[in-house]
Amino acid sequence: MNICVIGTGYVGLVTGACFAEFGVQVVCADKDAAKVATLQEGNTPIYEPGLEEIIARNVREERLSFTTDTAGAVRSSLVVFIAVPTPARGDGGTDLSFIEAVSREIGANMDGYKVVVTKSTVPVGTSARVRGWIEEELAGRKTATRFSVASNPEFLREGAAIGDFMRPDRIVIGTEDEQSKAILEDLYRPLYLNETPVVNTNVPTAELTKYAANAFLATKISFINEVANLCENVGADVQAIARGIGLDRRIGPKFLHAGPGFGGSCFPKDTRSVAHFAREVGEGFEIVEAVVRVNDRQRRRMVEKIVGALGGDVQGKTVAVLGLSFKPQTDDMRESPAVDIVNGLIAEGAKVRAHDPAAMDECRGLWDDVDFTDDPYQAAEGADALVIVTEWNQFRALDLDRLLELLRRPLIVDLRNIYDPVRMEAAGFEYVSVGRPPVERETS
Ligand SMILES: NC(=O)c1ccc[n+]([C@@H]2O[C@H](COP(=O)([O-])OP(=O)(O)OC[C@H]3O[C@@H](n4cnc5c(N)ncnc54)[C@H](O)[C@@H]3O)[C@@H](O)[C@H]2O)c1
Repeated sequence: MNICVIGTGYVGLVTGACFAEFGVQVVCADKDAAKVATLQEGNTPIYEPGLEEIIARNVREERLSFTTDTAGAVRSSLVVFIAVPTPARGDGGTDLSFIEAVSREIGANMDGYKVVVTKSTVPVGTSARVRGWIEEELAGRKTATRFSVASNPEFLREGAAIGDFMRPDRIVIGTEDEQSKAILEDLYRPLYLNETPVVNTNVPTAELTKYAANAFLATKISFINEVANLCENVGADVQAIARGIGLDRRIGPKFLHAGPGFGGSCFPKDTRSVAHFAREVGEGFEIVEAVVRVNDRQRRRMVEKIVGALGGDVQGKTVAVLGLSFKPQTDDMRESPAVDIVNGLIAEGAKVRAHDPAAMDECRGLWDDVDFTDDPYQAAEGADALVIVTEWNQFRALDLDRLLELLRRPLIVDLRNIYDPVRMEAAGFEYVSVGRPPVERETS
């Protein structure tokens, strides 16, 4: 089977490379000529463990190629995947201009039956609009070619994308006719043989499933953050509570880590988008509206926590920030909580020094007045507090004696709860974390 993937970003590149690995003939098309040139030269434009090897093997074995010629890619393919961005608009809705542009290009070049599959995360009804845009182009060409539209949302996580694509928890396929359903079943056969659960459904259901999944996961995060805030008022320990509820299999232990809230390229935009969409259809999605509010407030609360730990005034004080990316193992800074936290500290008059193992190049354009350091210890030197914002493994076993010597004040604010409060106090630190009671100091 010949397929093409339009949009060779995170999702498109992983999708294209993994289908090629299954033995499918794949063309990845992107309008970004520099990105395509990089890929044609054998380099991978994103950091994703395992991806480079899969691309190299499949290019060598001539199952995978890259092009800027979307028209040619469409003509040579039975299945056309759309994997372009769907960014948030200012009002929380979704900007579908990339989807429209690609749909029109498909319509302008379609020369026979195709299955047009939306893999981008899109509001319900978008596949119907894709059909409309393609039909308008076909009508303009005075051509009547039959085609199917389908929805096949992607659930991969950055940093674990290959495993997620090759061994997914499930595949969701929304189709509107038997022909496209059979073609997509055939394409995904290697995963059917692996006994991956497949949810075959209609198109609107598939579109909404992606938002429901992300909204639910984001809800778990905001939920545990509110529990953490309660804990701080009553001397309870959020980590023990997360364990206490997470062992209940109806709840599950994942996504119950208190901290500065969710960020990244998906949860913030997808929660806002589904809330916006629900308002548009006159229903509202009140839980998700609250989840977004709690998440915004949590970031401000983290700034207050740091300022409070420093005695309520950070004017002229130096704060060392460890971790800037929205999660470990990525250089992705999109909607990272670190951005609001650093901005908040600067607004309060603090001097910020920061270190991140991967994201510093991404960050240099964000702030003129942040001092980026080569390692955590340089950041700590002479600082009034050390704040852990992203839980990179490199920060889990810091040399505490060295930090104690370097910091002007031995204060650690751990926004990811990666250290043990008792151990930190015993080591000589003032230690502040999220939703955990302070250690009682022994008085002599
Ligand atoms: N990144 C993730 O972890 C993830 C996970 C699941 C779903 N999604 C969804 O998948 C979609 C894509 O996300 P991404 O992170 O891969 O985006 P991305 O920004 O990494 O890549 C998108 C690519 O599309 C290309 N593009 C834009 N317009 C084009 C056009 N007209 N023709 C050809 N190429 C074009 C861009 O040049 C870019 O290379 C979004 O809807 C996103 O919400 C992302």
